Amino acid sequence: MKRRALLSRSAAGLLLASGLGVGGSTAAPTDVSFTRDIAPILTKKCVTCHRPEKAKGNYQLHNFESLMKPGASQQASVKPGQPAMSELFRLLVAADADDRMPQKDDPLPKEQIALIESWIQQGAKFDGPNATAHLTSLIPREPHPNPPTSYARPVPVAALAFSPDGAQLAASGYHEVTLWDASNGKLLRRVKNLPQRIQALAWHPAGQWLAVGGGTPGQSGEITLVDATKGEVGKVLGRTIDTVMTLAFDAQGERLAAGGADNAIRVFSMPDGKELRLIQQHADWVLGLAFSPDGQHLASASRDRSARVFGLATGELEASYMGHEAPVSGVTFSPDGKSVYSCGRDKEVHFWAAKDGKKSGEIGGAEGELFRVLLADGQVFSCGADAQVRQHKLDDRSLVRALAGHGDRVYALAAHAPGKRLASGAHNGEVRVWNWEDGKPVAHFIAAPR
Ligand code: HEC
Repeated sequence: MKRRALLSRSAAGLLLASGLGVGGSTAAPTDVSFTRDIAPILTKKCVTCHRPEKAKGNYQLHNFESLMKPGASQQASVKPGQPAMSELFRLLVAADADDRMPQKDDPLPKEQIALIESWIQQGAKFDGPNATAHLTSLIPREPHPNPPTSYARPVPVAALAFSPDGAQLAASGYHEVTLWDASNGKLLRRVKNLPQRIQALAWHPAGQWLAVGGGTPGQSGEITLVDATKGEVGKVLGRTIDTVMTLAFDAQGERLAAGGADNAIRVFSMPDGKELRLIQQHADWVLGLAFSPDGQHLASASRDRSARVFGLATGELEASYMGHEAPVSGVTFSPDGKSVYSCGRDKEVHFWAAKDGKKSGEIGGAEGELFRVLLADGQVFSCGADAQVRQHKLDDRSLVRALAGHGDRVYALAAHAPGKRLASGAHNGEVRVWNWEDGKPVAHFIAAPR
């Protein structure tokens, strides 16, 4: 009882401070922008309970269109020009803590309440490009913090990519991507203004664009195109509500696919970055993606224990493979496009028919979870938690060799087929480059500037 009374009094105070009360002294903010001022507040404080998967009070505000629709109360959520008639505002200043939004949290600071009030007062205008876009993607992108000048200790190498000419190797860093000379492991360039954790890299076949995926776990994700010729961020294709985990270009370089911890797959056209397709058919993180050689299909690997194939013309599910019975992290097509190779926590590479998901066989021998599988030049490469990189022949799946040398879990693989080079990256920050014809090491280095 006492608690309730206290809260009510402070809520009444808020009413005054927010300018609703007669003679409120807080100066009303002028020219409130929805994307700049309001969306960041709602994203941080409200979206968790009011989004499609969890629409409390039958009300969603993850995008502008939904935000304007009434919820269970059937009362206008936002009535332009009339904050006091808008449920969204009334609930921010509700005297009863049980009714007040954000529920089970402190009331919003009075400056934020004043901003929302002024925005409604000024007509509740939308100044974004798309009323159905997730609010996260509307908030202006702040520059990312700089990477450390010198790393106290290396970060895990989660992603690697060769430039199309094979001369450079891109590696994931902390708030940066580092570019290395693939022949000798010398640092060439550091590209900053990128998310905290970089989980995916894909180099466009024409060489100019390096796609970078990453984010801050549980908070935000980003798909960025780095101009590799200039060494700087060129364009941000998309921002999501959780980390981007995987990226893939099609062979023609016309599309980029991205998947992540928001369980979604997005397909963008290149180079304009238009979102062509949003596929939401996985029940858990999407960890791997690959286009079929003809560009008609997209294979995915997910923590939901399935690998899938989607038709890109329709976005529809064409095949589902459940044979791993464990989270699946890596996926790729065979050169003829008829088979899909996938790997995961069951320590095996499975191969199965792309058209119906029927299993053809498996490659065993690993002693830990497998993170990546990659096909190039008639070879199957895989890497995993047992610190090994394995090379099998594609035609009979026989073991060619184990590329030993890493002292830690191997998360990342990249290949440059014309040069017969394979690069692998490990948890301890080490990158190794191999010649897969003879299995000899070409270079190794710690992918952290020091
Ligand atoms: C912890 C979960 C939670 C958070 C966070 C939250 N809400 Fe709610 N919200 C609810 C619940 C539950 C209801 C339904 C209340 C009821 O029926 O009594 C609701 C109802 C509403 C409604 C009324 C919908 C209608 O017409 O019936 C609005 C508007 C609303 N919330 C806005 C917000 C805003 C704005 C924020 C952020 C400042 C927010 N909510 C944060 C749980 C939450």
